[in-house]
Amino acid sequence: MRQLTTIAELRDYRQRLSPTESLGLVPTLGNLHAGHLSLIRRGRSHNDQLMVSIFLNPLQFGPNEDLARYPRTLDADLDHCREAGVDAVFCPQPEELGISSPDSSSVLTQVCPPESLTSVLCGRSRPGHFQGVATIVSKLFNLIQPQRAYFGEKDAQQLLIIRRLVADLNFPIEIIACPVVRETSGLAYSSRNQYLSDRQREHASVLYRGLAAARSEFHRGQRDAEALLKIVQAELAQVPQVQPEYVELVDPQSLAPLTTIEDQGRLAIAAHLGSTRLIDTMVLTVR
Ligand code: PAJ
Repeated sequence: MRQLTTIAELRDYRQRLSPTESLGLVPTLGNLHAGHLSLIRRGRSHNDQLMVSIFLNPLQFGPNEDLARYPRTLDADLDHCREAGVDAVFCPQPEELGISSPDSSSVLTQVCPPESLTSVLCGRSRPGHFQGVATIVSKLFNLIQPQRAYFGEKDAQQLLIIRRLVADLNFPIEIIACPVVRETSGLAYSSRNQYLSDRQREHASVLYRGLAAARSEFHRGQRDAEALLKIVQAELAQVPQVQPEYVELVDPQSLAPLTTIEDQGRLAIAAHLGSTRLIDTMVLTVR
């Protein structure tokens, strides 16, 4: 497995690939877990060459967020990639990409996705976050030029923004969505789960129970957003340690709030557990 840390090494690797070989990319912040590995497995089976990027992107962290304490586990990440049959890992230092701190956004050309997608859900409490994501993903796409890139539905708002970015900026890249991977408790895998104590982990599984309870009612025929949201909220209220930031039912394409589900709706939750912020989501589709 090649470990590439400079743009020069990356370009050299890219140029040596034959034009007939397909290249898949799985972009990550590092601290790889079962969620990331599901993307890697999917990418491995679809492409001749698979690259994983590991870059803890300062641009997407706000001043009061967890950049400093975010788990950095490069050696273990490289082992996971090697075991999963990854061909190359791109793991540059921030300076190599012209980023030294979150403040770098003031001196960089930024990619600014449409406000209708960035100002809702997580964008409300994380101003600048999706601009930081869009900017770094554009840089990775330009540098790596994969044919396919893999993203998780766990970050459904991010996935939608990346799809818009690729369409609007004409990146010749196919975006592949991968389903949310969960622990047996239902808790979605996340690097931020490491901040939780065992007790908090149990508490955190209520996010999934809330979504699953609403899904059961939906399958029984409930289509009314207010009724479905009440079910999620009632479940969350069972665990007062979990403080919801938002619980919403939105149109999966526009992220606009729904009053009823005609074809499809996306339930989305963000909640705080102590100092840890967690998100979860589920799509409800009329069969
Ligand atoms: P990161 O949080 O490391 O996630 C990398 C990818 O793994 C994302 O596409 C995310 O949706 C996916 N993922 C994380 N947990 C998952 C789970 N439980 N099930 C399925 N997929 C999961 O998202 C980012 O990094 C960054 O914003 C990035 C796109 C790399 C840009 O910096």
